[in-house]
Amino acid sequence: MKLVLLGPPGAGKGTQAKKIEQEFGLKHISTGDIFRENIKNKTPLGEKVQAYLDGGNLVPDELTIAMVWDRLDQEQDNYLLDGFPRTIEQADALTEGLQERGQALDHVICIEVDAPTLVKRLSGRRSCPECGAVYHVVDNPPTQEGICDVCGHELVQRADDKKETVAQRLDVYRAQTEPLIAYYEAQGNLVHIDGDHPVDDVFAAVRQAIDA
Ligand code: AP5
Repeated sequence: MKLVLLGPPGAGKGTQAKKIEQEFGLKHISTGDIFRENIKNKTPLGEKVQAYLDGGNLVPDELTIAMVWDRLDQEQDNYLLDGFPRTIEQADALTEGLQERGQALDHVICIEVDAPTLVKRLSGRRSCPECGAVYHVVDNPPTQEGICDVCGHELVQRADDKKETVAQRLDVYRAQTEPLIAYYEAQGNLVHIDGDHPVDDVFAAVRQAIDA
């Protein structure tokens, strides 16, 4: 199965992706996580992309598309794309690349949440740099403040979750990624999900969309 998760920053894509990965056995491929891992490890790719992430802007298509195909060609069958595609050019590259390999997407799930809620979620998000677990200081706090329940590592706030960068990320989403909703509607495989519900309720809707 091949699945794409669309939605604005903070909609809950990463949160749902972890649950989908567990329940359906799909490999979770998050372009944001791959970029952050490269920045953390100070790789040449990390050095190239750091300024884009810090500024809330998209990494250039050429770089992103090459990186994603490199990863997808190792996965072949069952994966879940979180944060890719994000531009029409990326979506075309995905559609054409899949066609060349005799493959197609099974589902595109778009999680929708209004802007004030997104800002609240992103400003309160804390993540574990070690195992990737995600928390929220009010809605989903760890048992011990600032410490990951899963691996005991200290939690951090993502550099791009600062207020001004969040505003830029939302603008970039509207201008460059939102047009993908019409793109996938035209392909006939887009499902809209209201993401403004508790995590498990959103997941129930996601599961229903995948099983349908
Ligand atoms: P990326 O890492 O993909 O960030 P994003 O799309 O901005 O999404 P987020 O990770 O911020 O949010 P999310 O939807 O996963 O929400 P989460 O589950 O964490 O990309 C970062 C950057 O990398 C980009 O800005 C760009 O520079 C670059 N990049 C990445 N992909 C690229 C591409 N394809 N092309 C070019 N550049 C690219 O949840 C958020 C918070 O809400 C958490 O605290 C969580 O606990 C809470 N929460 C989640 N669900 C719920 C719920 N149902 N109710 C209450 N709270 C909830």
